[in-house]
Amino acid sequence: MSADAPFLLACRREKAPFTPIWIMRQAGRYLPQYRAVREKFSFLELCKTPEAAAEVTVQPIDLIGVDAAILFADILLILEPLDLGLSFTPGDGPSLARPIRTPEDVAKMPRPDVRDALSYVGDTIREVRRRLAGRVPLIGFAGAPFTLASYAIEGGGSRNYIETKKFLLSHPEAWSDLMGRLVDVTVDYLTAQVEAGAQALQIFDSWIGHVGPDDYRASVLPHMRDLFGRLPRDVPVIHFGTGTAGLLELMAEGGGDVIGLDWRVRLAEGWARVGHDRAIQGNLDPAILYAPPSVIRAKVKALLSEADGRPGHIVNLGHGVLPDTPVDGVRCLVDTVHELSA
Ligand code: CP3
Repeated sequence: MSADAPFLLACRREKAPFTPIWIMRQAGRYLPQYRAVREKFSFLELCKTPEAAAEVTVQPIDLIGVDAAILFADILLILEPLDLGLSFTPGDGPSLARPIRTPEDVAKMPRPDVRDALSYVGDTIREVRRRLAGRVPLIGFAGAPFTLASYAIEGGGSRNYIETKKFLLSHPEAWSDLMGRLVDVTVDYLTAQVEAGAQALQIFDSWIGHVGPDDYRASVLPHMRDLFGRLPRDVPVIHFGTGTAGLLELMAEGGGDVIGLDWRVRLAEGWARVGHDRAIQGNLDPAILYAPPSVIRAKVKALLSEADGRPGHIVNLGHGVLPDTPVDGVRCLVDTVHELSA
């Protein structure tokens, strides 16, 4: 396959036969077929079992008809060889038993060979490519350094990211050291994903919207530029965040062939602000998938008219699909995007 897959054409801002769509968290709990596989493994075991991870990666291609697959893995896997004590507890989400709290904690972090430690991800990618047999492209991914640092410092999810911000503001040198170490392992990890067969990459900066523009410029942007500058040049890279309406120009300065938007900003406005020399991804509210088909149709129509027929739009939600989303709503969205954009 095929550099002319609609998803890859859109990443390069070339004209596609229809607007491609994929959905963040498309391989997940809203699908009964995912839950059936998941019953047999813990979440981490599933990530580390290439046959099973490949199976759930491909499920939404067969069941929903999306135009790209995304590797089944997690942004936090890379924290495991950093020895932070990663675990996932059902209901509570991820937690890190040994969070980073002091500059000394950063200085004594190990410098693992993540290609080796996460070699199961390469095995999954090769198995997915075999199963896809060229039907759609495969997206690899990693967390952005701020979002990874927030988990490493908070020890899990957070409401206000106060430990992370306290660290960033109180220990700027150790913060920069931590961000640099996270960029180093992420570059190795994503390079290995591309070598194994990933045909595009997405950087998830899920929680960056908690940072104001001045702190972004001083404490995040240099690391994003470093990261994007060191990624393989032969695949398109999507730069995604949520709550980023105050940061879009800075995110574009950071890098990415495609900028991912959430629903809190109009697509036309967001695209104009990042510049029409980038492709755009998004930006439907995951809540519309619970609405009747007529509402989904109206939302898709409005979104496509915001994009105004300009090449380089990839439809997605503005954040992941929620676990109790009706499968029929997801199917309706994909079919409607294909129908109305063809
Ligand atoms: O389908 C896909 O999108 C591919 C797989 C994928 C997962 N996580 C699987 C997963 C991807 C791309 C991610 C990225 C991820 N992981 C992000 C960035 C995207 C975002 O949502 O902002 C973040 C912040 C994480 C961290 C994470 N992983 C959290 C907070 C949780 C718990 C919350 C939850 O939904 O349970 C996870 C667990 C997780 N990652 C699940 C899945 C399918 C649920 C695990 C389960 O099956 O019980």
